[in-house]
Amino acid sequence: MAKQEDDFKKVISHAKEYGYVFQSSEIYDGLSAVYDYGQNGAELKKNIREYWWKAMVQLNDNIVGLDAAIFMHPTTWKASGHVDAFNDPLIDNKDSKKRYRADVLVEDYVAKIEGKIEKEVKKAAKRFGDSFDKKQFLVTNQRVVDYQEQATGILKRLGKSLENEDLADVKKLIEELDIACPMSGSKNWTDVKQFNLMFGTKLGANAESAMDLYLRPETAQGIFANFLNVQKSGRMKIPFGIAQTGKAFRNEIVARQFIFRMREFEQMEMQFFIQPGTQKEWYEKWKENRMKWHLSLGLGEDNYRFHDHEKLAHYADAAADIEFRFPFGFKELEGIHSRTDFDLGSHEKYSGKKLQYFDPELNKNYVPYVLETSIGLDRMFLAVFSNSLKEEQLENNTTRTVLKLPAVLAPTKAAILPLVKKDGLPDIARKIINDLKWDFNVAYDEKDAVGRRYRRQDANGTPFCITVDHQTIEDNTITIRHRDTMEQERVAISDLKSIIAEAVDMRTWLKRMG
Ligand code: GAP
Repeated sequence: MAKQEDDFKKVISHAKEYGYVFQSSEIYDGLSAVYDYGQNGAELKKNIREYWWKAMVQLNDNIVGLDAAIFMHPTTWKASGHVDAFNDPLIDNKDSKKRYRADVLVEDYVAKIEGKIEKEVKKAAKRFGDSFDKKQFLVTNQRVVDYQEQATGILKRLGKSLENEDLADVKKLIEELDIACPMSGSKNWTDVKQFNLMFGTKLGANAESAMDLYLRPETAQGIFANFLNVQKSGRMKIPFGIAQTGKAFRNEIVARQFIFRMREFEQMEMQFFIQPGTQKEWYEKWKENRMKWHLSLGLGEDNYRFHDHEKLAHYADAAADIEFRFPFGFKELEGIHSRTDFDLGSHEKYSGKKLQYFDPELNKNYVPYVLETSIGLDRMFLAVFSNSLKEEQLENNTTRTVLKLPAVLAPTKAAILPLVKKDGLPDIARKIINDLKWDFNVAYDEKDAVGRRYRRQDANGTPFCITVDHQTIEDNTITIRHRDTMEQERVAISDLKSIIAEAVDMRTWLKRMG
């Protein structure tokens, strides 16, 4: 645990030191769970957004984009169920005065059991070596089976209590599991209460006529409200999807995990409109498709897993998370939800407007069912960033800090370094930059010895360093150094563009989705 915490602290401080993520309003001591993206963070975020947008909108001729407003008519949130049901169960510790999400306390307890299972697996893998069969071990080792049963039982009970709004039982569960306040160790808990997560605000200039509004807690409702506008103006035929990226706001109870759980964050959501009755098939397809997107980035297959929901949100008939191994363990990164006709049906009811589709194949009107994929852009940022940050032991007994970002997402693709600040080398470096900058983000760096500049670019996540030296003057070649292997090769300046393009081209990366 201490190592996990230490690793996570390193991620946070590296993000700050290299201009990726800053605490919001830091000069005023910050604002809790609100963050700003710095010069590199803004680029990384933009690249992740584009990687998602291309995969969803550009590569699917039946998915189109949308950019709906953050403010929506307040009835939207009544219809969507958020006014009545967008609550988290909160619990306070009477001694430490710390507030927690009751379900998260229980889930963290279960995560510890899962940690024990992982430990057993590691031990056995070491003992049995090559002959180790993990699948077999998980179902035959009695201790592991017991742990698994315990974890499943706890989650089932939690799911059921939450579904039945039985908050007394959630408290009972916390007491039975002997869960203590992580800050103080105290087990002196209040009752569990529901807390609505939406932020309220007002629209209008004078107090009497001002309208109470909410900041949207998800981008999805902008898509539902525009379903017919897009379907009609785009002459879309079912099945089709609408995708959008944008800010969402939630007054989170627990916000102690950097950009994992923020009060202002960005979502990348896609609603896929389908014939009623086909939702199972599309649910499986989109689960598979979204996992392929994640795997195409090469962060490691072992770092992902599906988690099927026991407790379903008020709108869903099936739901799964794609979980990622964050520095603090496996947690939700993306949700795949089968939302039935809940949203469109409810908006029909509240607005009095028909939100139906005439299906020429079936020769009838119906309210389409919806399959949703929903990923937090900031959470994806954290997944990519934390997974890429490595401390490497080098042969000469030194270490290097390197941010091995997937090259396609790296903020700066190449740094151009004149070996010395004289003999015309800076001019050549500038010329190279002036040529490459039309296609890639490139940087110039002439300060310090070249070795130190390499280290700086490694920590920054720049995949290539291009060094201009005296030989360049003679034969128009430079050395190109690869961040991940530290290998260097001598190539012609005229080949640079194609070498970089091959490594960072979205087409190459997205094609890995198959
Ligand atoms: N439209 C469905 C929906 O909003 P959700 O599971 O509540 O579903 C989807 O959210 C995704 O949004 C999550 O998987 C997560 O990546 C991201 N997300 C949710 N709350 C967040 C928060 N407070 N901070 C950062 N990301 C968040």
